[in-house]
Amino acid sequence: MTLTFLGIESSCDDTAAAVVRADGTILSSVVEGQVALHAAFGGVVPEIAARAHAERLDVCVERALDQADTRLADLDGIAVTAGPGLIGGVLSGVMLAKGLAAATGLPLVGVNHLAGHALTPRLTDGLEFPYLMLLISGGHCQFLIARGPEDFTRLGGSIDDAPGEAFDKTAKLLGLPQPGGPQVSREAEGGDPARFALPRPLLDRPGCDMSFSGLKTALLRERDKLVAAQGGLYRQDRADLCAAFQQAVADVLAEKTRRAMALYMAEAPSRPALAVAGGVAANSLIRSRLQDVAAAAGAEFIAPPLRLCTDNAAMIAFAGIERFRLGGRDGMDLTARPRWPLDRDAIPLVGAGRKGAKA
Ligand code: KG4
Ligand code: ZN
Repeated sequence: MTLTFLGIESSCDDTAAAVVRADGTILSSVVEGQVALHAAFGGVVPEIAARAHAERLDVCVERALDQADTRLADLDGIAVTAGPGLIGGVLSGVMLAKGLAAATGLPLVGVNHLAGHALTPRLTDGLEFPYLMLLISGGHCQFLIARGPEDFTRLGGSIDDAPGEAFDKTAKLLGLPQPGGPQVSREAEGGDPARFALPRPLLDRPGCDMSFSGLKTALLRERDKLVAAQGGLYRQDRADLCAAFQQAVADVLAEKTRRAMALYMAEAPSRPALAVAGGVAANSLIRSRLQDVAAAAGAEFIAPPLRLCTDNAAMIAFAGIERFRLGGRDGMDLTARPRWPLDRDAIPLVGAGRKGAKA
């Protein structure tokens, strides 16, 4: 019998619930974004996010069950994001999941949000371990070798801003609306990436760590120089700045991925694969550069559909099933964790992300 799980996700600014089967069938996946609620503040406001999750989670769960034509009694378990993330939101999800588990007697499985992202290529493509994973979103930026549902090795990541965060801040500096990634990449289409010489942070240092906050500062300086000289920005200036920024991010990601790939390939995996997840994986320049890196190493490139790359509860339900099959389950003492590195040996990182989801 294939297991069917309800998944609940509320760690950042998406309220989500989904019903998923162990064979990868997604019976339903409901995601309610909160972009409009935070728009006036230029970033996610934790208290507003937590309230919205508390108000909307039960509605999302009901809709997910309805759309899947499934009753609580038909389920085999309840998986919930227990961290890392904004604590108020994570707590809302964990409390709801505990209530449902207590009322139904169903097993409760706490899931690491990052494991949800990292296991998505198994949900969508049945990818086998070990594979190399690059998480790039507004809150995450790391390389992982996925060896098992609870066995990850972190090879490196951003020491400051996540790339999506850098795209969003760049958009803000140039007066473009949020979320900035799609806007900046659209502007970049008409721009000359060579007009401004932006840095390639940490590229001269060994290893797979990255840094994106300096890039944004360099861009700010170029913008201010133009404003001082001309009294403002012309359309072409903005396009050229966006193109230069996007090129720099793509260069850094491509080179660091090449290094991570070499470390991974040294382990001689039987079906080598590079998988990406996170909203930044939607960027076509970055995507094609990563594809080239994978091809050069003789590895398959896997990019799940965007709705499963960005925050959703289907990945949480699936990761819950994977953990449950290994005997993982939680009791009423399950805690919500704001920080929760995937790699057990991880050294804690300095600096908190905009979305609080770094680990
Ligand atoms: O995975 P996601 O939906 O949310 C989390 O951060 O968890 O990723 C959203 C991020 C935002 O920062 C957004 O600006 C960025 O992904 N993004 C992009 C593109 N589309 C979305 N960044 C660059 N290019 C894009 N086309
Ligand atoms: Zn996420």
